[in-house]
Amino acid sequence: QLSLREQLYEVLASTAQFYQHALRQSLGQTAMLYLKEHRQLNTETIQQFGLGYAPAGWETLYRYLVEDKHYPVQLVEKAGLIKPRKEGGGYYDVFRDRLMIPIRDIQGRVIAFGGRTLTEEQPKYLNSPETELFSKGKTLFALDHAKDGISKQDQAVVVEGYFDAIALHAAGINNAVASLGTALSIEQVRLLLRYTDSKQLVLNFDADKAGTIAAERAIGEIATLAYKGEVQLKILNIPDGKDADEYLHSHTAEEYQQLLANAPLWLNWQITEIVKDRDLRQATDFQKVTKQIVKLLQNIVNSDTLNYYISYCAEILSLGDARLIPLRVENLLTQI
Ligand code: CTP
Ligand code: MN
Ligand code: MN
Ligand code: MN
Ligand code: MN
Repeated sequence: QLSLREQLYEVLASTAQFYQHALRQSLGQTAMLYLKEHRQLNTETIQQFGLGYAPAGWETLYRYLVEDKHYPVQLVEKAGLIKPRKEGGGYYDVFRDRLMIPIRDIQGRVIAFGGRTLTEEQPKYLNSPETELFSKGKTLFALDHAKDGISKQDQAVVVEGYFDAIALHAAGINNAVASLGTALSIEQVRLLLRYTDSKQLVLNFDADKAGTIAAERAIGEIATLAYKGEVQLKILNIPDGKDADEYLHSHTAEEYQQLLANAPLWLNWQITEIVKDRDLRQATDFQKVTKQIVKLLQNIVNSDTLNYYISYCAEILSLGDARLIPLRVENLLTQI
């Protein structure tokens, strides 16, 4: 007798196969074309990530799993794949007419799905609900493929989107995982750090509003670790507001590696963010910026690091009026 978890793994694996099969049928033609043309993915990558297609009908998967394969309906519901109809009884498929991306655990077992619409339908991505096996805040997409790469490169790259991670792997950058659009939790960070000796983590979130908020939130989560030097955190913002997938459509893997190599440390990134859109010649802006910078620097424990950041900031803050430099540095020093 299989445990509930084992039964869930089984029904999810069976579903992934069903979606993969559908992608290769004529009903999956549009989805396949989307992957090959628009996403520029080859058969190997499509296979590697087990991408599939959920047919458009309301109960295609339901019929397959419950009627053909005789999985108990409650089990399929617990797997997050079907929902009971509000009226008239029966069940309907959660994922319909979507490109299906299996989300796997570290061992490579399917635990959930992300489904992207091929039309303008909202939401753009529909994800499995939280289940016995799937907790969004504890999962990192593509970690099963990335764990060896992270160990080898001794660095982990975290992107936001499914296709950012997939595009990076397709380009041979195999140390990338996706956070699935949420800010990174401390739990996810600890999971990643298991695989690197020098604890190097690069956050490459989108430069759009959602991405910047997610990056700020992630930094908030990780800051305590970062101040203690338990993680070497860098932030990469791709030029022109592109995400990694978009960037790799017109740039090489080497160019992306170059961006990674030049990514600023998180404190430098934060300082730039604080100063951004402020006019340091204005007293109010200057005071706001100084306050925020002092708040940022006061938690630095290593005195060499602190000295470095004090001079770095003094240089930035003195952009307004050169005569104020000593005053400003002093001001900073007394507040720290
Ligand atoms: N996301 C989600 N639900 C949404 C929008 C986004 O779960 N309604 C998650 C997905 O994991 C998505 C990630 O957040 O991959 C990043 O969001 P976004 O930048 O909007 O999506 P992209 O992955 O860039 O989408 P696209 O397929 O258009 O490239
Ligand atoms: Mn594209
Ligand atoms: Mn985005
Ligand atoms: Mn994006
Ligand atoms: Mn994208």
